[in-house]
Amino acid sequence: MRSILYTTVASLLANPALSLVARGNLPPKFTVDSIGIQSSNFPGVYRDGGGGGTVNGVNMMTFSDTTTTTTGGITGPLKGFTDNTIAYVGHDGAPLHQTTDFGADGVPRMPIPFTQNETQYTADHFDKDGSRCVLWPQASIATIPTPDDSELGIAVYPVALYSSSTGTQTDLYNTLVEISADPVAGPQVARAVPQLFYAAQGPLYGGFSTVAAHGAPELYLFSKEWDASTLTGGMRVAKVATSSYRDRATYAYWDGSAWTADLAAASSAPAGLLFESSLSTGDVFWSDYYGTYVAVYFNSFADSTYYMRYALDGTVTGKWSDEIKLAATQPGTGSQPYNYAGHAYPTFGQSGKELVLSYTMAGGALTDMLKVTFA
Ligand SMILES: *[C@@H]1O[C@H](CO)[C@@H](O)[C@H](O)[C@H]1NC(C)=O
Repeated sequence: MRSILYTTVASLLANPALSLVARGNLPPKFTVDSIGIQSSNFPGVYRDGGGGGTVNGVNMMTFSDTTTTTTGGITGPLKGFTDNTIAYVGHDGAPLHQTTDFGADGVPRMPIPFTQNETQYTADHFDKDGSRCVLWPQASIATIPTPDDSELGIAVYPVALYSSSTGTQTDLYNTLVEISADPVAGPQVARAVPQLFYAAQGPLYGGFSTVAAHGAPELYLFSKEWDASTLTGGMRVAKVATSSYRDRATYAYWDGSAWTADLAAASSAPAGLLFESSLSTGDVFWSDYYGTYVAVYFNSFADSTYYMRYALDGTVTGKWSDEIKLAATQPGTGSQPYNYAGHAYPTFGQSGKELVLSYTMAGGALTDMLKVTFA
């Protein structure tokens, strides 16, 4: 009797498909609730952006241009300005819409550093022609184990030239960063690969989302592309071993039927598109609850709506589902009546059934958060 019981439990635990965790049925059923508009421990902080993850149990979110004012909202007297910030979210038992910022004198510091010549570019141009080098984080943080049993966040962010006079953004390359989560000092970020992929050479892999592969020591780096004249495009993927992400020569690219070292060939193969869709921002992640990869995103049509797709066979390179409308948000009115920077945080919820979402509210100053609960 006893041995039968042992055998049964052991085989249940050894077989993920029969694990004791309840699995959800796809297509998903779900409800959407408001979490609320974020507020920081530092008063007068206004910013846009999103994307993030959880490292060593610390939930964090990244932001782009961050303005701190003394009073009077976003147009009030300026106290500080930084190109990027990272906040802890719901830290130490705080509610999820409460952020913890790190900095001096109530101004969040810039955690993701510029290289010397990126700083030089802005010094040489900003006063003359209003252009500057920007590093606006806009993607998920993948979490990988370190040799000393800790965790490290890996993310890939674009570096671009931005002209405030014309409002144009020219992507140069993307950069791979390593993020650790010091609970007291805040996030520590290193530009592990200052320049990873070049905009002139093909897709900016990782710039859409980077995720640790399920059950394999690898990272998947997703890119997005969209041709507005033909209304075609979608998502592509590169992969690399977690032991060699600093070495570009060890990356492989999906061409639609195989992984290849040929970046140019794979990246121009029509079959290399994992699914066809317009994507502006979003995240790809492994869902334990559904036992497959999920993509959640905003499109580039500014309809302020989250969409979802899932991998039909549990792999990122197999077929993906059709698009499902996940949650619509209300953009309000104004000169730019749309919300943007939609993101998903699969690790922020209480169980695998919850998916936390964030978006920048129209106007670009505040972040609202929602929670999807899958049935
Ligand atoms: C910094 O220098 C590298 C190498 O010369 C170059 O590729 C890159 O575009 C430069 N970045 C900026 C912002 O000028």
